[in-house]
Amino acid sequence: MTPSTPSTPTTPKTTGALATPTATANSAEPLDEAAYDRRRLRQWFAGEARAAGVARRDVLRLAGVAGLAATVPTLGGGLPHAHAVTPPGSAPGIAPGIVKPLPDDVFTVRGTNAETRFEALAATGHLTPASHFFVRNHTTTPRLDADTWRLTVWGDGLTGGAREFTLAELKRLPSTSRTAFVECAGNGRGLFTTQQGQQVSGTAWTLGAVGQAHWRGVRLADVLRRAGLARHAVDVMPRGLDDDYITADGTRLGRVRRPLPLAKALDDVLLAYEMNGEPLPPDHGHPVRVVVPSWIGIASVKWVGDIEVSATPLFSPWNTDFYRLFGPGHSPRGSGPLTRQTLKSAFELPWNAHFEAGFRHRLTGRSWSGGGAVDRVEVSTDHGGTWHRVRLHDVPRHGSWVRWSADWHPRAPGPTVLLARTTDTTGRTQQATTAHNTQGYLFDAVVRHPVTVG
Ligand code: MTE
Repeated sequence: MTPSTPSTPTTPKTTGALATPTATANSAEPLDEAAYDRRRLRQWFAGEARAAGVARRDVLRLAGVAGLAATVPTLGGGLPHAHAVTPPGSAPGIAPGIVKPLPDDVFTVRGTNAETRFEALAATGHLTPASHFFVRNHTTTPRLDADTWRLTVWGDGLTGGAREFTLAELKRLPSTSRTAFVECAGNGRGLFTTQQGQQVSGTAWTLGAVGQAHWRGVRLADVLRRAGLARHAVDVMPRGLDDDYITADGTRLGRVRRPLPLAKALDDVLLAYEMNGEPLPPDHGHPVRVVVPSWIGIASVKWVGDIEVSATPLFSPWNTDFYRLFGPGHSPRGSGPLTRQTLKSAFELPWNAHFEAGFRHRLTGRSWSGGGAVDRVEVSTDHGGTWHRVRLHDVPRHGSWVRWSADWHPRAPGPTVLLARTTDTTGRTQQATTAHNTQGYLFDAVVRHPVTVG
């Protein structure tokens, strides 16, 4: 194993089809109804039900359970400015509600989502083209008209009333851009099952629920200040214009929305209207999405229509029921809401790639971390007995992945595994296992990538 040189001649033969690990996890994100009711009742008693965004019908149902006479304040209200048109239904190999083409050699369709095949990234550069960028949709991609779209900023964390912005107004504000990956908190979830033998709920992603783009837009901080940010504001909650999310058990959770602490909102968060130099494509949030660098993907709300600015902490199912760690070692309420992504490495190879024995092959891959810039990447071809530093092809930056490569000269035929691990600038290194959590978030163990030498 040596760091590769650009002249390395051979590329591995592959078996063609990706042998996707079979995980028993469901493609929807099921929620145990009794647990849901208990949590919501707790929030109701604590006076958090409005902030939790519980639909009127559900609060009445919960209140009925508790024998309460409920007066339910109206939720943030529908925004009439943009209309959502639900795309036509699904067909085999087509994710219902995703607009762009999903060729089989680039994507694996998982329910309403599309995972990028990591081997397809080998043909791409540091940025992931929109044609290759994974899609995570709770429902369907709405078709929004940029001319009639409005962003409403509202709430008791403002000094005055609600303020609306058109896209043209946002574009007149100073623009800023940055390269950042977006990665689903559940990326790698399938590996809890296939590699660690553990049950988890949620979409059984392998490693392709991540993509990196150059985003251009305005700083959320600038928009909040123009809207009249009050000194006592603590949380902001962007909300998407896609359809209400309904869980597998039929509970309507409303539109996708997740609170962000004001400190993060004022730091490096973008309201992006461009992806890789083009207007945002429909599936990635057209006309405007939130981009929260280094944080789990759910924070980067697509198709944002309104942002609540609040003087008190906000809650939504996306920071109470989902996107916390539940299970052994955690309280029944789970961990705190997840924020930063963890660290990972992936080979740009299909599962069970085939390599000819006796030849030198170039292995390529990518590593990234939400905690800091990538410091180093190592590869092992002897089951972790020895590790070799690989050549990095990008300058490591915070919030951004690096491409790497190494040469491998396998001699013994037969099945084996390739391992890659990264260490970030905080000193964290990928380990052999990840602690289990029931919703399978933040998998960061070294992946045992199966290949065959023949
Ligand atoms: N925003 C809205 N409005 N609706 C969604 O379903 N999914 C979130 C986030 N923002 C989602 C959303 C999740 S879980 C992820 S991982 C990212 O968008 C995925 O972004 P992408 O589809 O552009 O890759």
